[in-house]
Amino acid sequence: MGSTNTLPLPTYKSLSSSSSSFTNSYFIAKPSQLFLQRRRRCQSFKVSCNSNNSTGEHDKNLEANLDRRNLLLGLGGLYGVANLAPLAASATPIRAPDGYTCCQATTTCDEKTVVLKDNCCPPPIPLNYETIPCYKLPTMTKLRIRSPAQNADEEYIDKYNKAISKMKELDKTEPFNPLGFKQQAHIHCAYCNGAYKVGDKVLQVHNSWLFFPFHRWYLYFYERILGTLIDDPTFALPYWNWDHPNGMLLPPMFDREGSSLYDENRNQSHRKGTIIDLGYFGDEVETTTDQLKCNNLTLMYRQMVTNAPCPLLFFGSPYSLGNNIETPGTIENIPHIPVHIWTGTVAGTPLPNDKKKSCGEDMGNFYSAGLDPVFYCHHANVDRMWNIWKTIGGKRKDIIHPDWRNSEFFFYDENKNPYRVKIQDCLDSKKMGYDYAEMCTPWRDFKPKLKRATTRKANPSSVPSSSEVFPIAKLDKPISFSITRPATARTQDDKNEKEEMLTFNNIKYDNTKYIRFDVYLNMDKDTVMNCDNINVIEFAGSYTSLPHVHLHKAAARDEPAHQNTSVNFQLAITELLEDIGLENEESITVTLCPKKFGEITSIACADIQLADC
Ligand code: C2O
Repeated sequence: MGSTNTLPLPTYKSLSSSSSSFTNSYFIAKPSQLFLQRRRRCQSFKVSCNSNNSTGEHDKNLEANLDRRNLLLGLGGLYGVANLAPLAASATPIRAPDGYTCCQATTTCDEKTVVLKDNCCPPPIPLNYETIPCYKLPTMTKLRIRSPAQNADEEYIDKYNKAISKMKELDKTEPFNPLGFKQQAHIHCAYCNGAYKVGDKVLQVHNSWLFFPFHRWYLYFYERILGTLIDDPTFALPYWNWDHPNGMLLPPMFDREGSSLYDENRNQSHRKGTIIDLGYFGDEVETTTDQLKCNNLTLMYRQMVTNAPCPLLFFGSPYSLGNNIETPGTIENIPHIPVHIWTGTVAGTPLPNDKKKSCGEDMGNFYSAGLDPVFYCHHANVDRMWNIWKTIGGKRKDIIHPDWRNSEFFFYDENKNPYRVKIQDCLDSKKMGYDYAEMCTPWRDFKPKLKRATTRKANPSSVPSSSEVFPIAKLDKPISFSITRPATARTQDDKNEKEEMLTFNNIKYDNTKYIRFDVYLNMDKDTVMNCDNINVIEFAGSYTSLPHVHLHKAAARDEPAHQNTSVNFQLAITELLEDIGLENEESITVTLCPKKFGEITSIACADIQLADC
């Protein structure tokens, strides 16, 4: 049990005196007409933000934008945008890995490939792929309702504790019972750490369109197993409500030492009410907690609204046999990954119960993430974002490509029966027998309002052009350049038809490191050095990456894991150009701000394209 009673040191240093150049107004979330479906009124919460201009002007603009977005009639987006290569209609969906194709898993630690000593494979089944039955959703009499973790009462917490304790007992009494706690955690390891193959490549359910559906099915069975263990067919997981200021902390029920929901392998200075940074990549942000909450809401707005107008931007790149480019969707990228890193131990420090050096365990490394009970609570909220995203409007709909819909995974159900499940069958959570208790989503109204350069447009001719700057050999300091747009003054119809995409091609970096760089529009010489305030209109988005390997063959122990990854990155900027007032400009200024932890070695080129989605 816990060996210390001391509270963690406060993590955030107050900068309130140095931020006096901003108007610190109290922002009260208001009900909004922007989204057409009925929403419960937000309870007011107070966050002191670096925002000015909370007048109706902003709201009107937002309304106009969303009207436009609501007019976009989505087909679901077969092909999406440029870096998402068109898929042949006859490509092949991922088939469920059968029990026999599971091999040794590996992870990346300390820039090395480590072969995991625990075998992550599921208990073997005497069936091969063809004979594993396809799962049929049972008819439900009563929905399981997943509620925000911070509001849970003692009765619920007791029940949940009991269920997890029973799962953990199975580890001791029946180590090969697929319903055991470790066996359940291993599912994540097997699907993420190279235990399964697709063709001659390892299967990876992260960084692509497999991310949302895989985790949905995973939680579906996990929840039913917990319910079965305590004989409660309506048992539902809680969700870590990190998108709401009240939920931006490690949910207290997971923070009680001695409880079955507690995990020692967590960052000890991120406990007891410390406010989470949804953009966390290993650096503690020096800011006030209120400002941090504002930054979080800004990030949520960008990832759910601005940067995710098209299905493939939200879900991630296509992944099927012979076509597995790995680009994560907006929410998988942020805040999903930062929440993992923020919760896990600091890589390189000693683990509490082990002499071993931490590789981010438990939450901060995919192989061990499922060993922390809060993992499933975190993923319940990720899953909830999928449902909410589809209500925002425009082209925000499920992907219709058959390779996505027909992709399959393998799970044991609550009766220990093996099944193949299809993505097609998990698109409607109500049909799966669960739903989310409604909670207001203040980030929907949280488009950044503050303009960095309120009085003038950055002068693109004061910075070098993109052709002078690219290829960038090393992105180790902020860099600005001007870039030409393919069209100016686009009409409403033009915008309905195509998204304007700022695209970075062939970004190379060492994938054993944490990577993050931020992108701003319209910053010029005078503002370029201030890369820290994301709560501004000009903040376009971030590219992030967790250390990971793309192994194409079984790795040898201690083989250097370093590989140059090459990815493309796209940001949807139609809405941003409207907000900043750059719609008539022929060229715009773009600034890249690299963050600490890892370097981008090179970026081949950047351009702006008009893309279908
Ligand atoms: Cu499978 Cu949050 O990761």
